[in-house]
Amino acid sequence: GAPVQVDLSSIPEGQMRTVEWRGKPVWVLHRTQQQIDELPNNDPFLADPQSERPGFTPEFARNEYRSRDPKFFVAVGICTHLGCSPTPHLAAGPGPGLPADWEGGFFCPCHGSAFDLAGRVYKNKPAPDNLEVPPYEFSADGTHVTIG
Ligand code: FES
Repeated sequence: GAPVQVDLSSIPEGQMRTVEWRGKPVWVLHRTQQQIDELPNNDPFLADPQSERPGFTPEFARNEYRSRDPKFFVAVGICTHLGCSPTPHLAAGPGPGLPADWEGGFFCPCHGSAFDLAGRVYKNKPAPDNLEVPPYEFSADGTHVTIG
């Protein structure tokens, strides 16, 4: 499949866009500073907070934010359990099946896996891994991201 280019200025802070790449949904989330700052708080509740498991995290995303730039999170929107599409819950707050200290993230309705806003899976959930981060690059002027 051809690479897909996304105009980052079309995504306001706190919102995301879904594009299709190789027949898969890819999310581009523009995180707010607050969302960025809260990510480390989730670490104790996550199965693999530093993304050390092989397979779904390219080298460039092996960091707290799982991204090249903390502001933008790019991930394949397919659950690593059995392939359902998790639902974005971008705001903090309680909800059915969500972790008690939910700071926002993605919730898979199929079997209840929860992921934070870096796509990191919470402990004791059926999904075996964090969400996949696809290969991507920012343009030199930072206005676009190219996925693939
Ligand atoms: Fe997502 Fe099973 S497919 S939890």
